[in-house]
Amino acid sequence: MTDRDSRKIVIFDTTLRDGEQSPGASMNLAEKMEAAGALVDLGVDVIEAGFPIVSQGDFDAVLEISKNVRGSTICGLARCREADIDRAWEALQHAERARIHVFLATSAIHREFKLKMDQEEIIRRAVEGVKRAAGYTADIEFSPEDASRTEADFLCRVVEAAIGAGATTVNIPDTVGYSTPTDMRRVITTLRERVPNIDKAVISVHCHNDLGLAVANSLAAVESGAGQVECTINGLGERAGNCSLEEIVMALRTRNDHYKADTGIVTKRLVPTSRLVANITGIQVQRNKAIVGRNAFAHEAGIHQDGMLKERTTYEIMRPEDVGFAKTDLVLGKHSGRAALADRAKEMGYHLEHEQLDDVFRQFKQLADKKKEIYDGDIAALIEQQIHTGGERWSLVSYHVVTGSDETPDVTLTLAHGDEQFTKTMSAGDGPIDAIFLAVEEITGYTVVCKDFNVHSVTVGKDAQGEVMVQVEYQDRLYRGRGISTDSVEASAKAFLNAINRIAASTTEAE
Ligand code: KIV
Ligand code: ZN
Repeated sequence: MTDRDSRKIVIFDTTLRDGEQSPGASMNLAEKMEAAGALVDLGVDVIEAGFPIVSQGDFDAVLEISKNVRGSTICGLARCREADIDRAWEALQHAERARIHVFLATSAIHREFKLKMDQEEIIRRAVEGVKRAAGYTADIEFSPEDASRTEADFLCRVVEAAIGAGATTVNIPDTVGYSTPTDMRRVITTLRERVPNIDKAVISVHCHNDLGLAVANSLAAVESGAGQVECTINGLGERAGNCSLEEIVMALRTRNDHYKADTGIVTKRLVPTSRLVANITGIQVQRNKAIVGRNAFAHEAGIHQDGMLKERTTYEIMRPEDVGFAKTDLVLGKHSGRAALADRAKEMGYHLEHEQLDDVFRQFKQLADKKKEIYDGDIAALIEQQIHTGGERWSLVSYHVVTGSDETPDVTLTLAHGDEQFTKTMSAGDGPIDAIFLAVEEITGYTVVCKDFNVHSVTVGKDAQGEVMVQVEYQDRLYRGRGISTDSVEASAKAFLNAINRIAASTTEAE
């Protein structure tokens, strides 16, 4: 039940910026566009779309999202440096509503070892940065990085100066996930009591989850007066991640009696958005993850089941349908048409262009010939494959492997690169998949270290499609790849090629 006097908390989603910094979670442009569309449908107020100065890929993503995504404020990150801020604006200028987020570390440890600046220099740079950003847009966020480990007096001075220079949101990051809820309460209360112009800005909080306290810390900040929470879908992010969007939103909604605060999030979109981000990044959520995990609403114990049958509120504090769990996900079959597929894809959070839909529909028909029942998982896998592989340089034409126990496999592999085809025949490897990976390396010229390989079925049944996820290392960076097929060897080949294509795209960009 939501109180009509609730404060509205601004939800600032940083899945595409801080979340993407999670190892192996980097997304290409098409994937970021897809995720941004889903975040708008979810009702996110601000989407932090990237850090434009760090790479051409980040710049392009912020630019394209600014040009095409409507309904949320689009934000770009910048250090307190002219070049960063100018580049951020260049990417953001077409947004319906644009925010520049400038940050500068303030804690003693960062000042001394990372920045080698004294307190006065930090204040001067913070003010210069905010002023430069304010020359472009009125919506400016300032973050004193590592705020939670910054001396209280100095933090108050920096925040006051940043607001004085034009910051409209001041974000308090617990950058290293060190705070406890008591610390957070103290920091926010101190700022509200001691910064004279604090009422001119929204106080925000940005908590990392190193001690598993990101959501609790964010709630403590809201309780103390914060008006914005920064978070990511599935709690994605570096190390142990960021505050999880779905958890903070449902905690505020379910315990509105206590927090007297709510968000504009369309909670029925939480599960579809969580699944979409998991599919895009390849980072699945654990089964018992609060709100969106597969078991989040599963009652196994007999005593619970008995209570639930008599009255669901005996053991249930939220309804699964309120967060977007569908009763059943058996959806389409051989006779389903293009419109039905388009509808289902939309429901699942995907925004497919006309041609993308044509492509997915073709594959859907082929799949429906092979398996009778098409589940949501199958559709997501087909769409993801379309998004992941669109515009790839190398693609699989055919493979042939002959092998047996204690035999070295004989493989013939043909790949396409533009209009050309390349075939390699060799005797190598330990099993058919290894043989194909070696042949891919020979043809493409990329030698990688395979760090992770896993196969799972996307739905149920013996005829289910297999999804292969690989993670490979190339020149000290991790790249992921994903492939699906009802043939798991073919799925492996596609996943490996997908990773090679990501390497090819990013190394060409860096050159
Ligand atoms: O964790 C952090 O300090 C950040 C800032 C850039 C807000 O991500
Ligand atoms: Zn962060």
